[in-house]
Amino acid sequence: MDKPLPLIELCNVGFSAQENRIVEDISVKFTEGTATALAGPSGGGKSTVLKLAAGILVPDRGEVRYRDQNIAAFTRGQNLDFRKETAVVFQDSALWANQTLYQTLELPLHIHYPLMSAKEREQRIREVVSAVGYRRDLAVRPALLSMGEQKLIGFARAMVCRPAILFLDEWLESLDDEAARRLLSLVRRFKSEGSTLVFISHDFDLVSNLSDRVIMIAGGKISANVTREELIRNKNVAGLIEEGMNE
Ligand SMILES: Nc1ncnc2c1ncn2[C@@H]1O[C@H](COP(=O)(O)OP(=O)(O)O)[C@@H](O)[C@H]1O
Ligand SMILES: [Mg+2]
Repeated sequence: MDKPLPLIELCNVGFSAQENRIVEDISVKFTEGTATALAGPSGGGKSTVLKLAAGILVPDRGEVRYRDQNIAAFTRGQNLDFRKETAVVFQDSALWANQTLYQTLELPLHIHYPLMSAKEREQRIREVVSAVGYRRDLAVRPALLSMGEQKLIGFARAMVCRPAILFLDEWLESLDDEAARRLLSLVRRFKSEGSTLVFISHDFDLVSNLSDRVIMIAGGKISANVTREELIRNKNVAGLIEEGMNE
């Protein structure tokens, strides 16, 4: 059987900031319809790799390819399509400090569905907000929200354009159990519909449950790349991954 083409591929990617090499020689493929976990110790470079794959950071070495095209060479139109297909939930939520939650949720719809009516936008926003279980006012700025509520709105913003590829950076942290269960079931449904998932987590059970592949990142490099079967079958591999996650 032919191997499926990678949807997103990082080829020998490196990224530096303030003269520090943050990640180096990262080569990894994200296959359509699969879930990939990025695991590893804090400060290892997971968030950087996720942002490079999502096109939010630009590598200074190597290439990030989407459907076999270098995203750095995208036209404006291709870039817009890529942005519409992908969505990121940031580790720190990264909401817009000087806009209301409603404005924050409305902006992606304005950009990607310019013909959508205000009423349709409102409907779509009510839908995602209710799906994530946020029940308070949307006419406030993020500073009034708890960290957990900010995570819910960050998640709702990611889902509002119904992306095909979702990047989740420690998205269950700071949530209470009920909210975490709710978001996890949304993510499971997203995956069961054939969408593609890349997520970062320190929770070994979640990683071994949800992912088809686990990539371990430490010291800015990939230190392991295993399938879920290998993780479950091989106690040594599981031990190494679990140990590396807790460092
Ligand atoms: N823009 C930046 N400028 C300087 N240092 C950075 C920058 N981005 C990340 N780093 C550093 O690079 C390392 C890896 O960061 P990150 O990718 O956030 O790791 P992780 O998500 O695995 O905790 C950390 O030590 C972090 O402080
Ligand atoms: Mg991080």
